[in-house]
Amino acid sequence: MLTGKHVVLGVTGGIAAYKACEVVSRLRKLHAGVDVIMTENATKLVAPLTFETLSNRPVAVDTFSRIESWDVKHISLAQKADVFVVAPATANLMAKLAHGIADDMLSTTLLATKAPILLAPAMNTGMWTAPATQANLETLLSRGVHTVGPASGMLACGDNGAGRMSEPEEIVEAIVKLLTAKQDLAGKKVLVTAGPTVERIDPVRYLTNDSSGKMGYAIAQAALDRGAEVTIVSGPVHIAAPVGAKVLPVQSTMDLYHTMLENAPLQDVVIQAAAPADYRVENPADQKIKKQDGESLVLTLVENPDVAKAVGQQKRPGQVLVGFAAETQQVTENAKKKLAKKNLDMIVANDVTAEGAGFGVDTNIVTLITHDELKPLPKMTKRQVGDRILDEALRLLQQKAE
Ligand code: PMT
Repeated sequence: MLTGKHVVLGVTGGIAAYKACEVVSRLRKLHAGVDVIMTENATKLVAPLTFETLSNRPVAVDTFSRIESWDVKHISLAQKADVFVVAPATANLMAKLAHGIADDMLSTTLLATKAPILLAPAMNTGMWTAPATQANLETLLSRGVHTVGPASGMLACGDNGAGRMSEPEEIVEAIVKLLTAKQDLAGKKVLVTAGPTVERIDPVRYLTNDSSGKMGYAIAQAALDRGAEVTIVSGPVHIAAPVGAKVLPVQSTMDLYHTMLENAPLQDVVIQAAAPADYRVENPADQKIKKQDGESLVLTLVENPDVAKAVGQQKRPGQVLVGFAAETQQVTENAKKKLAKKNLDMIVANDVTAEGAGFGVDTNIVTLITHDELKPLPKMTKRQVGDRILDEALRLLQQKAE
């Protein structure tokens, strides 16, 4: 499965270091090449010979003394890695990596690598939850470092809580995922719209809808994982944006309209999963509207521009435009009409009344409709839907390039 792939495994001085032996053993069974770098402290917990036997390779330690044949070892290992894993990753290692400190073989090699980095943190709960560690974690995540765990449970120090290193099989699963991820969108620019828009009634009230942003953010994450340069045009949501995406926040449909007219032409693929309000209040009040002494309050709503249609009107040759259709009846017929009216290449039809589909939930049930095909998909996670949409968008992109 991992033939030809090379893993560099850093082992730091946490009590979970012994579990790293099984990580090496599992990786070798998958035919990956493994080089192990240990910190001095790690060698006090597990003998380097154990890792040398399991990996069938010399182990690098901080003294530089064990291996004399390598020219500039930290650079050659940094370059050799297809993925660089640190298991266990102590609070100290995370702090060093976050701040660019390179004072031993492991931290030096880690700083020099261009390979994806995966950390399996392991430490006492107090250390894990310490603001300093959490700030370091945030910094590392924002730079695209991947993590697996930590799990919660009984720790070696007797505490019960978060900080236990993930099990070797989970760590290996995360490594396999990183090593086998498709990079078929590398070099492509993908813009995704997500979330609701809000239309002001007065300074404290607004009209909106139930969109959580989950669908759009899941597509954006899938595109990032496949190597795309991703922009999210996002209405107000309460979920974290995928690390690595450029986020352009919008409030109203008019904001979305202007942001999209400026940014959509720069993209290879535009996927519009947002739920923009079709109407806005004609005259939003400057001050909080007072009660009307029993009288009805009448709000006049005027139609917002159709953003997807406007983007469709300025479609560049070779560009792929994807829309969504949130329907409650005659799903396919209505979606097909939108496909044509908005000059889209594909529309993702979802019946938002179906159980496990549409607003707020983590799954969706959609039909991918292009001008020549109709593909109903079973219920799947929004992430899986995202990948299926991207598969199809890539096919259309390639078709246009022929
Ligand atoms: O965010 P979640 O909670 O995960 O929910 C996901 C979702 C249900 C919002 C998503 O799957 C979805 O269906 N999004 C489209 C919602 C919608 O506005 O559908 P529509 O059929 O009204 O619009 C059709 C298309 O035109 C959409 O691509 C929409 O973004 C776009 N549109 C709509 C109105 C408008 N004024 N301008 C637009 O560009």
